[in-house]
Amino acid sequence: MKVVHNIQELRDQLQGQTRVAFVPTMGNLHRAHLDLMKLARQHGDPVVASIFVNRLQFGPNEDFDRYPRTLQDDAAKMEQERDVYVLFAPSEREMYPEPQSFRVSPPDHLGRILEGHFRPDFFEGVCTVVLKLFSCVQPKVAVFGKKDYQQLMVVRQMVRQFQLPVEVLAHETVREEDGLAMSSRNRYLSPEERAQAPQIYYALQEMNERLQEGQSREEIEAYATKKMSDLGWKVDYMALRRQSDLLEPTEEQIQAGEPLVALAAAKLGATRLIDNLEMVKA
Ligand code: PAJ
Repeated sequence: MKVVHNIQELRDQLQGQTRVAFVPTMGNLHRAHLDLMKLARQHGDPVVASIFVNRLQFGPNEDFDRYPRTLQDDAAKMEQERDVYVLFAPSEREMYPEPQSFRVSPPDHLGRILEGHFRPDFFEGVCTVVLKLFSCVQPKVAVFGKKDYQQLMVVRQMVRQFQLPVEVLAHETVREEDGLAMSSRNRYLSPEERAQAPQIYYALQEMNERLQEGQSREEIEAYATKKMSDLGWKVDYMALRRQSDLLEPTEEQIQAGEPLVALAAAKLGATRLIDNLEMVKA
């Protein structure tokens, strides 16, 4: 695996390659990231992964400074898996040599709801860096995880609307044995919090059970919010939405079998976790 830190070197390495498969990350790699790289390997060649902790997508009170930076360990993991040909790990000066005053903003109906309501500039930061990374790597295929469901949708719509020549592939959410979705932020959890953390996934499963029992969207959301709060979580949202656009489904649509997704964001102590589960009323 070649590790490159600047854009020119990356372009030299990839010269003439037309089937590049790309996996952007912020590092501190876990099993899920490596699985995305495996999927990339099946859909293109060579595979390029990036590690860049993107300041633009962190809010003023978020964890940019303490976000784990573990490049040596990450590179070792990737070497072991042998899926990645080039690791692109640019410095902040390389990616943002001057203030990034041009930005890509998603429309409010997509970028300001759910995650975007609680993290107002998050998706603008994501879109801007993803467009920039695509411009550096020029991939044929790019892989994103369903764990970050709204991010996947935002990226897909950006790609479609700018007609970028990139095919976006989704990887299923990769979970620990007890159901907790893997995340770099799980390492912030105390042992007690770690034991409690799968509750967010159980709550999503319970939302599905209630959907199947015929409860309304409002009832399902209210129940899940109360349940999580009673368990000691600080809930940002427990929402039942349409898969197609993340807007609220009508009761008629629910009954007609509209594909739905339950999305959850809640804090356990100081750690904010997100998760989601796709579902359809049978
Ligand atoms: P990061 O959080 O490092 O995630 C990189 C990719 O891994 C994303 O596509 C994310 O959805 C996926 N991923 C993380 N945990 C996952 C899990 N448990 N199951 C499946 N996929 C998982 O997401 C980002 O970085 C950044 O926003 C980025 C897209 C790199 C832009 O900066």
